[in-house]
Amino acid sequence: MSTILAVSSSPRRGGNSELLLQSFSQGVQKEGGGINTIRISDLELSPCTACDECAATGECVLQDDMQSIYPLVASARGMVIATPIFFGTMCAQLKMLIDRFQCWWHAKYRLDKPWVKLEEGRPGFFLCVGALKNKAYSESALAVAKVFFHNVNYRFVDSLCYRGIDAKGAIKEYPDALQSAYEAGRRFAVEAYKDQPRGR
Ligand SMILES: Cc1cc2nc3c(=O)[nH]c(=O)nc-3n(C[C@H](O)[C@H](O)[C@H](O)COP(=O)(O)O)c2cc1C
Repeated sequence: MSTILAVSSSPRRGGNSELLLQSFSQGVQKEGGGINTIRISDLELSPCTACDECAATGECVLQDDMQSIYPLVASARGMVIATPIFFGTMCAQLKMLIDRFQCWWHAKYRLDKPWVKLEEGRPGFFLCVGALKNKAYSESALAVAKVFFHNVNYRFVDSLCYRGIDAKGAIKEYPDALQSAYEAGRRFAVEAYKDQPRGR
């Protein structure tokens, strides 16, 4: 599969981060790229229990929807993740998904398992929206996203973070923000597919 994986993490369907992600995705599609969107809130996911079973196997023993997410992250051409700021950082839904990649950390750094010999250099992009103007919040979320991209062999390329946006859909009052996300999606697709055929 040669699509871009778009991860929407807000529990608010049609919320600000999701609208930004949609604009970004339209930009990807404008350049002929394929998009595969997942909404974390639509999935059955449990948090990592730190059982450490994966330290021996490189695989997560929890049998939930993460088992279908691992192959998507392994095979995507690029990845964009979108989050609202909750209590000064990314939302819990996204952090929960990220923590479930602890098995890949073991597989990659400790066990040298073949399935995480992932292609290197696939681009990763980060989108976030918060109500307050405090830049430290988006920087905190971005720091975690960068660690995640690095661990799953994506190359962080850029981010767009908007502050001062709160009510559901309020981002629509900022067409420049949506346009910037669209243009970023176009650039991202060019980068993601520079050596590959586009789309599905
Ligand atoms: C539980 C919760 C915690 C929040 N904490 C923050 C915060 O610490 N800083 C901030 O700027 N906004 C905070 N917000 C506001 C959201 O980031 C803001 O409404 C954002 O636009 C939501 O994006 P969404 O529509 O994609 O969910 C919080 C909202 C909720 C529901």
